[in-house]
Formats: sequence, C-alpha cells, structure tokens
Amino acid sequence: MIKFLDLYNINKRFEPEFQKKFQQFLDSSHYILGKEVTTFETDFASYCGTNYCVGTSNGLDALTLIFKAYILLGKLQEGDHVLIPANTFFASVLSVLNSRLVPVFIEPEIETFNISIQEIEKKYTSQVKAIMPVHLYGQLANMETINAFAKKYELLVIEDAAQAHGAENNSGIKAGNLSHAAAFSFYPSKNLGALGDGGAVTTNDAVLAETINKLHNYGSEKKYEHSLIGCNNRLDEIQAMFLNIKLKQLNADNLIRQEIAKRYLSEIKNDNIVLPFYNNTKDHVFHVFVVRVEDRNNFVSYLKKHHIETLIHYPIPPHKQEALLYFNNLSLPITEKIHETVVSIPISPILTDLEVNHVIKILNAY
Ligand SMILES: Cc1ncc(COP(=O)(O)O)c(C=O)c1O
Repeated sequence: MIKFLDLYNINKRFEPEFQKKFQQFLDSSHYILGKEVTTFETDFASYCGTNYCVGTSNGLDALTLIFKAYILLGKLQEGDHVLIPANTFFASVLSVLNSRLVPVFIEPEIETFNISIQEIEKKYTSQVKAIMPVHLYGQLANMETINAFAKKYELLVIEDAAQAHGAENNSGIKAGNLSHAAAFSFYPSKNLGALGDGGAVTTNDAVLAETINKLHNYGSEKKYEHSLIGCNNRLDEIQAMFLNIKLKQLNADNLIRQEIAKRYLSEIKNDNIVLPFYNNTKDHVFHVFVVRVEDRNNFVSYLKKHHIETLIHYPIPPHKQEALLYFNNLSLPITEKIHETVVSIPISPILTDLEVNHVIKILNAY
C-alpha cells in the first residue's frame, strides 16, 4: 500500500539527531521556554524573513492569539467582520469565532482553491476590519491583490500559513512575511511538522509580537507579574527541539514535493481527473496534491484497490458543519462543489520514483 503520508519514515530520517538532542534535553532539565524555543523563534523568523516569531501551542492558538492581541491593542473590536475563505480547514473559522469576531465566507477560485478577489470586493462592507487569506494546500493566495485591497479599505491582513511553510512569491518573499501577521501550524503532517502539537506567529510588528509574547504566557513578561489576562499557549520545548532539527531539511523537502507535483502534472493525462493549478514557481509547496473528480467514491475505491491511500481535504465545508447552524443556509456553490469533488493523492518528501510511477499509471488507467 502506498500510504497517503508515511510519517514514521519521514521522521525516521532524523532519528539519530533526535536521540542525541533528547539526551541533551534530559540533561538540561529545562522543560519550558528554554533555549530550544528561543533558537526556533530566532531561526524561524529568519527563515520567513520576519523580525519576530513567537512559538505557540498549535496553529489554531497562533491565529487566535493574533486576533486577541489586535483586540487588546484596539485595532479590532469584538463584533468586527473578518473576510475568510469559505473553503478552509475548520480551525481558521474557529479562530475568528473564538475571538468574538464574525466570519464572512468568501468563495474561492475553483482553479487555485484560493480566495477570489472578485468575491472579496462583492462581500466587503464597512463592518469588515480584517481579511484572512489561507494559503490552501500550500499555494500562496494572491497576496499582492489582497494587500492592495486591504490598503484601500484600511484592513488588517492575517495570513493563515498553516499549510505553506516555505512557499515564496516571485520576489522571494515567504509565507509568513506577506501580511501584518501570520500563523503557522506544526501539526505532525505539515511540511514542517513536530512530533506533537506546535505553532507560531510571525510578524514585523514589534508591539504585536510583544503582546502575543505576554498573552501566550499567562499575560506575563516577568515571572509572577501579569499585565494582561493571558493564557497558556506556549510552544513546548521538546517540540521546538524536533522542529530545530527538521527546519534544516524544509527547503530540500519542499523541492522534492514540487518535483513530484511536476511529474503528476505532466504525466497524468485523464479527462476524468482535473489536476490542480500550478505556475511552476516556488509559490506552491504542495502540502497536499489535490485533484477533482465527479465520481469520488468510485475513484477512491479504485485507488484503494490499487494500493493507493487517499484523503479528502475536506469532506464538509465549514458553513455546513453542525457546529455552525447559524450559517448552514448559506449558499456557496463553488465551495460546495470543491468539497464534493476533491481527493488528495500521496505526495511527500520520501515518496519513491517507483511509487510516483505507480500512482501515475493507476490514475491514467482510471
Ligand atoms: C489551514 C489551517 N489552519 C489552521 C490549522 C490549525 O492548526 P493546528 O492543527 O496546529 O491547530 C490547520 C491545521 O491543522 C490548517 O490546515
């Protein structure tokens, strides 16, 4: 069976280094906010090209901390509207709702799966104070146009970069450095994945970084002194240790993903399968490779029969989830069509040429 993602073998590559570092970690007996977290924050900020990075407990907390900090700083107010893509992972929406803000769902472009700028224009009202593009599946949203739109209406731009570590635009600027503030997830399956939960905020805004730094540590900068009503959303020291080792491999891994994607795109030729848009640049790091088919159930069982594991990102759009009853009657046909037809096929830095050949052969024979 070709696994959708072979996490065991992805992490096995780092085992000797993990073990060596783990011994050092044990010997240091410094378990919370130690030198691994500090090193990661410095190195990940430098990797993204931002002035600041604050490690967090996970990607959802990173997004929520950004919104909460903006509310504390008076740049947003509870009840403000936030434009967000209608087709995203549910956590993007949760960050808005948990910050007592109101999500305004925007249809995507069916080709890129990313937020449509025409739809943004249509849905804008004076209640909108922020926009949160998601670099879905690893492909940058159209940040130049989004930032121009945001500038015109004085909106905050918050990137959900949870799936796009290392994606960069044609000027070499990376995800995480294309907006006022960005959130990353290091969930194990991500291109840069921890061995548990982890996340980070990146920004060039010193005040925002300082506020999040306090907020995520009980609202405190100095031990036992609390200037804000904070929470505990810190990046774990041991996860930072794994991430420090894996960060060095991220660019090489993304290149392999792009090479596999290029093979899929040029060698899969089947009118029943719609391939994703890719402009052959570094703006897509192929966190997942998503095709569309009309008869998804058949397609998935056919691939399973031929030993290819797949996943659906995602089967139910946020506005149709039971938790969001209030939004259930919204009609978002492009988003709904995407959720009915998408299938993610295997892509990873350790997929072998033989496995890629097999996937291509089986898809062409469908
Ligand atoms: C687009 C998107 N946003 C937010 C998140 C939330 O990240 P986490 O699972 O680390 O909380 C994820 C990932 O899981 C994601 O894919």
